[in-house]
Amino acid sequence: MHLWRITSILLLYIIVTATAKRLITPKAHLSDRQSENERVVGGTNAEPGFASYQVSIQGMYNSHWCGGAIIDKHWILTAAHCIYGYNPPYLRIITGTVESDKPRAVYESDEYYTHCNYDNPVYSNDIGLIHLKDPIVFDQYTQAVPLASKPLEDNATAILTGWGDVQLGGPPAESLQKISLKYLSHKRCLEAFEEEDREILDIGHICTFTKEGEGSCHGDSGGPLISGDELVGIVNWGVPCAQGYPDAFASVYFYRDWIRRVMSGRCKACHCEASNYPTFGDKN
Ligand SMILES: *[C@@H]1O[C@H](CO)[C@@H](O)[C@H](O)[C@H]1NC(C)=O
Repeated sequence: MHLWRITSILLLYIIVTATAKRLITPKAHLSDRQSENERVVGGTNAEPGFASYQVSIQGMYNSHWCGGAIIDKHWILTAAHCIYGYNPPYLRIITGTVESDKPRAVYESDEYYTHCNYDNPVYSNDIGLIHLKDPIVFDQYTQAVPLASKPLEDNATAILTGWGDVQLGGPPAESLQKISLKYLSHKRCLEAFEEEDREILDIGHICTFTKEGEGSCHGDSGGPLISGDELVGIVNWGVPCAQGYPDAFASVYFYRDWIRRVMSGRCKACHCEASNYPTFGDKN
């Protein structure tokens, strides 16, 4: 298996200690079709305010390691692997900027919630919510994004944004990158992966793909995928980075109920009940 969660070095340290046996070195190959001005991988600079829901999640060293999306003045949706095992008071949430080292505002977290079946089965249910100590002040550059209200249709256009590496093993993006991708049905996504990676694709995942040289990379993890002005996906994993395979996201539509229950505050215990959330084995 040559999958990596799409994250950055600091976080990898945490994951490596927890899941060392599942990580191997990614392929060193990079598409020679990639030109120098291509980002996310293959994207372009996002204008200030373009992705006003985008946040940079940073740790005690004040450097970007994961993306996230503002879904409410008190809540950030991200990937579980971005926060799992982390101490909430050390999380810093950077909002309203396309330069992750130049925050318009910084918020602290008092708690976070990861899905009780995160990584069970492996790589699945990779979704988490960060609760902020103080409410976000919304403005032109800082807004909440609505959750997906319906499943995506095959080939629907979706926009990914992130500060992830602009190429495998390369530097992180200085400025927020955006790229237009296409939603791939579950069936077509399965077909697009190598046999050995297919079992990782869970019912709670959605995929995007356009072509080799376009897609997500380390540091994009947790970040938002938008379609029809709704938040449809959270970056989970892929074969890094844009090497010609689809990217996999946690489906916001699939986890909508879990998200709402956690946010309602009635979920202090229920967010760790396993039985309500089907795994891939239950499908058909
Ligand atoms: C989506 O695109 C693929 C590949 O181009 C095509 O085979 C498929 O029929 C399309 N699906 C729809 C619903 O248009």
